[in-house]
Amino acid sequence: MAQDTLTVIDNRTGKKYEIPIVDGTIPAPELRKIKTSADDFGVMSYDPAFMNTASCRSRITYIDGDKGILRYRGYPIEQLAERRSFLEVAYLLVFGELPDAGQLAAWTEEITLHTMVHENIKKLMEAFRYDAHPMGMFLSTIGALSTFYPDAKHIGDITSRHLQMLRLIGKVPTIAAYAYRHSLGLPYVMPDNELSYTANFLSMMFKMTESKYHPNPALVRAMDVLFILHADHEQNCSTNAMRGIGSSHVDPYSALSGAASALYGPLHGGANEAVLVMLNEIGSIANVPAFVKRVKAGEGRLMGFGHRVYKSYDPRAKILKQMADAVFEVQGKNPLIQIALELERIALEDDYFVSRKLYPNVDFYSGLIYQAMKFPVTIFPVLFAIGRTVGWLAQWEEMLLDPEQKIARPRQIYVGPAEREVPKAIVGAAQTAAR
Ligand code: CMC
Repeated sequence: MAQDTLTVIDNRTGKKYEIPIVDGTIPAPELRKIKTSADDFGVMSYDPAFMNTASCRSRITYIDGDKGILRYRGYPIEQLAERRSFLEVAYLLVFGELPDAGQLAAWTEEITLHTMVHENIKKLMEAFRYDAHPMGMFLSTIGALSTFYPDAKHIGDITSRHLQMLRLIGKVPTIAAYAYRHSLGLPYVMPDNELSYTANFLSMMFKMTESKYHPNPALVRAMDVLFILHADHEQNCSTNAMRGIGSSHVDPYSALSGAASALYGPLHGGANEAVLVMLNEIGSIANVPAFVKRVKAGEGRLMGFGHRVYKSYDPRAKILKQMADAVFEVQGKNPLIQIALELERIALEDDYFVSRKLYPNVDFYSGLIYQAMKFPVTIFPVLFAIGRTVGWLAQWEEMLLDPEQKIARPRQIYVGPAEREVPKAIVGAAQTAAR
């Protein structure tokens, strides 16, 4: 069969080039063949924010942004959220298939064995100021784990890689909960390995003087679904960071700390926190039209709206909007929901948002649910990070095993000064600097 190609005629030289089209993409290195002379470097592609560049082949997550489709390993997110637990989905993302009963039991046991952290990690976390942002504590502590597990450097060893995955998936809820307890001056709660992954997380967060914490099953389920919805999202900013940092062959704790830093930003996982701040600032339904007017005038963004890939309703936001009622039934309604609904209603009728295809994303409703569950606003990005840890790890391993991948190292277009000579030093200045 004839290969699909793109014919390029270089008007500078009149030469014709056949560039192969593979999987709907052109291999960018092929462009280097387009040269004006033998010593010409060749043409490069320029795409500052990866607007139209595929950086890898992946078998993990599929998104159709126009149709609002999200699938993990081929399974629709709606079905996974309805029928499976977070640890089953974590197994699916890492290994490619859903676990059978035996595999799930072994996986759960292995992760549960790794929920505790070294006492020195606790001491390290105690050193943070009382008002330290939990996400700052989280990402620093994850980075510090690399010093506790120097064996993690053996990234070419599958046994070592999987051990670090178990440690990370097991420990991220513990670190997240400790960061929260620290901010309140509350004693840390040890993991309770009789509870499920998610119930144990709620226990470490909210247990007070009772000998055993019994979380409400509806809230455990809601939290589990939230973790599932956040577990992976193909090549987003933080996953790209995980792959990019990991491509230097650093240990996964250091890479994951960098990924969590990328997630912290308000344009990414920090948006859930920013949505709550925004809704509080709006304050009442009556103020919504004026707020939307300010956004349209370029004075700030409507947080929780818009997405690089989704140009229709984010399927995760759809699930969360429905799930909010189940949580409100147990915990009471979050009064901010009325402002959020009005904001969505007005935005979805307004040409500014319609023409730019700006719809609610996952962060628009998640914060309202977290708040109803009594999580403080600053912990929201950390909750996102717990779920996403699994996706980061699956993507990291896929990158390491991909023979096409190398150290991530983009090119640039240099626009600085041409070579110029350093002026002679002012008399006496060079000697002063040397001292
Ligand atoms: N409010 C108002 N205008 C917006 C918004 C928004 N939330 N998002 C995009 N726009 C406008 C933007 O000003 C631009 O308009 P114009 O063409 O007139 O210059 C146009 O829409 C395209 O925006 P962009 O910045 O080029 O789009 P992007 O793909 O680079 O950015 C985004 C995607 C998610 C960073 C952006 O939509 C945004 O800042 N949203 C708010 C933050 C947010 O909710 N982030 C969470 C993302 S989903 C969860 C996650 O994965 O973290």
